[in-house]
Amino acid sequence: MTAAVLADRVTAGGDEPTRFEPIESWYPVFYLEDLDQLKPTPFTLLDRDLVIWWDSQALEWRAFDDRCPHRLARLSEGRIAEDGLLECPYHGWAFTGAGTCDRIPQQLPDAKAETSRRACVKSLPTAVEQGLLFIYPGTATRAEQTPIPLIPVPMAEGKPQDGWVMLNTFRDLPYDALTLLENVLDPSHLPFTHHNSVGKRSNASPVELEVTTSDQSGFTGTWADGPRRQTKYHFYRSMSNVA
Ligand code: FES
Repeated sequence: MTAAVLADRVTAGGDEPTRFEPIESWYPVFYLEDLDQLKPTPFTLLDRDLVIWWDSQALEWRAFDDRCPHRLARLSEGRIAEDGLLECPYHGWAFTGAGTCDRIPQQLPDAKAETSRRACVKSLPTAVEQGLLFIYPGTATRAEQTPIPLIPVPMAEGKPQDGWVMLNTFRDLPYDALTLLENVLDPSHLPFTHHNSVGKRSNASPVELEVTTSDQSGFTGTWADGPRRQTKYHFYRSMSNVA
């Protein structure tokens, strides 16, 4: 799907206004440049093991549960077959991008076990934006109505403003999402932890944040002085930024 403005938008995090339901949100999982279209890639999202693979028939990235419906082998240890289907490494069942089973090599010629619903694997909605692959792990019918958490690019006359640069960096951090969330909500550490890189100890000052929008999926705000003094600092914090 694309990030086109859709008429019936729903809020990320579900319908309960005081509670954020983590699965009802889009999550960025990979830079596209880090994915290999020729082989399946494992990824764990919200404790759920997934396999990501390139569907060359539909020209789309796919995200499946990383578990074959036959004997539960990891599909991420399989391969992309010659016809572009995802093939299980154990007995060779092959799956289409929609998650249906296309073939079972061991069955008799007139058997049709691959048409059983029990032979299907769950396929999750995916989207590509800003060079990233996003996955929606929640209710599939909500995916298209749920906004994708994108970097708000400053626009001028319909185009990104001159001088706007977006850098791709990826770090595996050995701690959980809540610890990271607490860290990125706390810009007062910047002058010390990042002294001589993006911070300077002498710039430490009170954080006077003006919250401009807020709902269960996050908030935006502005700190007029900013951690670098006289540099406005915009907060954009969404729960799905930190999963
Ligand atoms: S476990 Fe996948 S085909 Fe048997």
